[in-house]
Amino acid sequence: MIRSRKERTPFALGAYFTGGATNGDAWRAPEEDTDADIEFQRYRDYVAVLEKGRFDAIFLYDNVLPIPDPSLIARTPMLARWDTFTLLAALAVTSSHIGLIGTASTTFNEPYNIARRVASLDRLSGGRAGWNVVTATGGGENFNLASHVDHELRYERAQEFVDVVKRLWKTVEPDAFIRDKRSGEWLNATHVHPLNHKGRFFQVAGPLNAPPTIQRPPVVAQAGASGPGKELAARIGEIIYTAEYDINAGRDYRSDILDRAVRFGRDDRHIRILPGLAPIVALTESEAKAKFEHYLTYLDKADILRGLSFYASLGTDLSEWPDDRPVELHCVEETNSHKSRQSLIVDWIRKTHPTKEDILRTFTRGGHRLLVGTPASIVDEMEEWHQTGAADGFNIMFTSSPSGINDFVEMVIPELQRRKIMRSSYASRNLRENLRIPPT
Ligand SMILES: Cc1cc2nc3c(=O)[nH]c(=O)nc-3n(C[C@H](O)[C@H](O)[C@H](O)COP(=O)(O)O)c2cc1C
Repeated sequence: MIRSRKERTPFALGAYFTGGATNGDAWRAPEEDTDADIEFQRYRDYVAVLEKGRFDAIFLYDNVLPIPDPSLIARTPMLARWDTFTLLAALAVTSSHIGLIGTASTTFNEPYNIARRVASLDRLSGGRAGWNVVTATGGGENFNLASHVDHELRYERAQEFVDVVKRLWKTVEPDAFIRDKRSGEWLNATHVHPLNHKGRFFQVAGPLNAPPTIQRPPVVAQAGASGPGKELAARIGEIIYTAEYDINAGRDYRSDILDRAVRFGRDDRHIRILPGLAPIVALTESEAKAKFEHYLTYLDKADILRGLSFYASLGTDLSEWPDDRPVELHCVEETNSHKSRQSLIVDWIRKTHPTKEDILRTFTRGGHRLLVGTPASIVDEMEEWHQTGAADGFNIMFTSSPSGINDFVEMVIPELQRRKIMRSSYASRNLRENLRIPPT
């Protein structure tokens, strides 16, 4: 166990993608791609650059939200998105070392399907698959329901769902396959174990009919931040994504999650907590600032503010707030969607009294932190978070593709490596081994 929460864990770096037409909001800049939703080679090329940068994993965000008014997303790269595991399966073939983490909700899937899908990706990629467990911020209306499933119920289902998936992965022992042409024995039946699970939400007989996983089992990621979300993260999350933007809040969050994990009997050294970070980097401060201003000229500010208001369920459309007055939020009704993001942004607005412009310059559309600076200043910040127990690494949210990806790999990665925060070669072709998280 970690004695002090300030003790350094191996630094982990993830790359966040939406699986959509572009990544980041500066898609109108002439140099950025707008067709990654139809041109697979864009993802192939991004991943090749990230592998050169020795990223541990890419992570594909996903949701299945209904869109009652499509005009609201007419100026935003939100539609269309690849099915995450289909895209990752193709990337498994074009890449060799980077981890491939896909999102699948426990609210609109069945454990058997997900266990099989992730196991198949793990085999296909030679041991690089991960599953980002979400309860989904919305989507009931696309799955025979009148509205989204209640937050608490979603998390209760998620707990059982993940347990069943993990147990399904163990139903066939890796040495069960004999494949002996001479004797005619294909399988050692004593090494195959039906599950016969009968729970509150699921009945699953098993065993899992899927290629045996290489990582035994694939890595499980999660991003819980509300009460039930943190409990789930602490119980099953090996990588935990968060949106903390303040170092003290980051330390508190990490310490809280690790304490809870220990209470679940887990070893807290085997958890990687990765806050999101959207960097804009250049070789000098003034160039970085100019790049940021250039980036802002391509944003549809009203649309970004509307998107953030919706995503964080602020109950007020920030885009309609007067330019020159600090934003005030009075009674914000608690959401059933994204409880933690709502409280994070609402608390920040109430504490700092920002104008709309301040909000735009602090957060991305999804409420993650923007950081503008040189490789040294950005790495200073990352290092401080890592050294003082606020993070085990970061989930990088590029503000544009391909420039944001290229900039980070060309400028920030060498600085991380020079300071020995990051390795300069992969330790393995297996995600779990690269993260140094032993099988569970
Ligand atoms: C980096 C990051 C990525 C996330 N990706 C997804 C996603 O792909 N799909 C989704 O429905 N929710 C996603 N979420 C939301 C979480 O699953 C979760 O709903 C959120 O952290 C709120 O947790 P809470 O329900 O505990 O408040 C993500 C959150 C973070 C911080």
